[in-house]
Amino acid sequence: MKVKNICCIGAGYVGGPTMAVIALKCPEINVTVVDINKDRIDAWNNEDFSKLPVYEPGLDEVVKKARGRNLFFSTDIDKAIEESEMIFIAVNTPTKTYGEGKGMSADLKYVELCARQIAKVATTDKIIVEKSTLPVRTAQTIQTILDNTGNGVSFQVLSNPEFLAEGTAIEDLFNSDRVLIGSLQTKSGIEAANTLVDIYSNWIPREKILTTNVWSSELSKLTANAFLAQRISSINAISALCEATEADVDEVAKAIGSDSRIGSKFLKASVGFGGSCFQKDILNLVYLSRHYNLNEVADYWEQVIKLNDYQKYRFAKNIITDLFNTVNGKKISFLGWAFKKNTNDTRESAAIYIADHLIDNMAEIHVYDPKVSEVQIKNDLNYLWSLKGISNSEIDQKLKQVFVYDEPYSCVSNAHAVAILTEWDQFKNFNWENFYKFMQKPAFIFDGRNILDKSKLEKIGFKFRGIGKI
Ligand code: UDX
Ligand code: UDX
Repeated sequence: MKVKNICCIGAGYVGGPTMAVIALKCPEINVTVVDINKDRIDAWNNEDFSKLPVYEPGLDEVVKKARGRNLFFSTDIDKAIEESEMIFIAVNTPTKTYGEGKGMSADLKYVELCARQIAKVATTDKIIVEKSTLPVRTAQTIQTILDNTGNGVSFQVLSNPEFLAEGTAIEDLFNSDRVLIGSLQTKSGIEAANTLVDIYSNWIPREKILTTNVWSSELSKLTANAFLAQRISSINAISALCEATEADVDEVAKAIGSDSRIGSKFLKASVGFGGSCFQKDILNLVYLSRHYNLNEVADYWEQVIKLNDYQKYRFAKNIITDLFNTVNGKKISFLGWAFKKNTNDTRESAAIYIADHLIDNMAEIHVYDPKVSEVQIKNDLNYLWSLKGISNSEIDQKLKQVFVYDEPYSCVSNAHAVAILTEWDQFKNFNWENFYKFMQKPAFIFDGRNILDKSKLEKIGFKFRGIGKI
């Protein structure tokens, strides 16, 4: 099949950048990104390219080149489905917050809705591409829905997991380590996979495009994220040991990472990993393993998350301990709220959980993040507290302990302590001498990302604590 029109359902962090790059690299294909959220689509269509709903370095340039040429953003989902030969599903698949599998399995509600909508609307054959991260065997579910409710047209379901990391999405899409395409190993399944291979071949070397069966593809995505997260939990576990033994975790990471069998990436000790994928995907893996009665396997992976929770808790507890065992009424300045630098995404950010713990201990949390808005920060806390069953009036009360700034000076002024939660480059170049003058004494810094120079800051007068070093 020759593809002339692609549609993608879901204009989020994955759908938006991925489709923008496909449109840029394949000018002969029309790419329409659709979403039920009109505000989001309006933002993608904004004349001002600094107002796109997703912040990613380089994304504005790509959208500038392709939008209006062969890249379109729309809320007319039915029209886009009908006109396209290939449909990507990139809707969100959060961890379930209710019912069977609550807190563990992925909520496939949106994916199923997409499949039903495609089945209802389609009058010609389509290739459906799973882009959302999904539990293993979801392709089968989609295929069954399509086959049973469709208009007699033929559907081929492919799995094409996304490996881009936020903050480097455009670079990752331009120069992917690999592209993975899973299909049924039937003649038509392989043909459909080849159609997608042809699209990626426009810019990805053929040897980097891997084709597998659907289940391997789905499982590889969960496994890749579990392995990456496991490395972080491993080094974070060692960071606690470093603090007890006077070793330095960055030195240990460098020493072990120099072994080419181990490698140097994903060994940066931190306040804990966040983001929409790691925890969710591991929970999926754990749920799947328990489903197949593989309890040892489930326990093994679950520990990666437990360690991550411990790391976040440890960071908050260290702040309380160092501030003479109480943060009641104290001003703690958070530099950074996003789950990593160069993104405005805050999903599962460690900052949320650390703020929650400190607010429980009656601290005031003052936040500055260069890309995250006050509304978002308050929504994040509101969401967490609602999940915990806290009443609306109590939430309103707690939110009075949260203050958000659009510049760092007032955020830090008069603070008892500064906590670095995100590794934004600009934090390294702040005028820390000046900050020191305006803070309460003793002035503390808790560097949850190990980005600041301890000896320099101690010379200024700060009491300094990093991760995995004393
Ligand atoms: C992606 C993946 O798809 C998810 O499975 C992965 O684990 C994380 O990354 P992401 O792009 O980050 O999700 O999610 P989000 O930014 O929330 O975007 C999803 C979009 O889908 C939203 O804009 C939402 O409005 C849209 N959507 C959702 C629909 O258009 N239709 C629906 O039925 C549901
Ligand atoms: C991840 C995967 O990297 C990507 O391949 C997949 O498609 C989606 O999930 P993402 O969550 O966007 O990407 O960012 P990533 O760079 O992996 O960082 C995840 C979290 O781990 C962040 O909170 C980051 O700060 C933290 N991290 C990362 C560390 O604490 N230490 C490290 O060494 C690396």
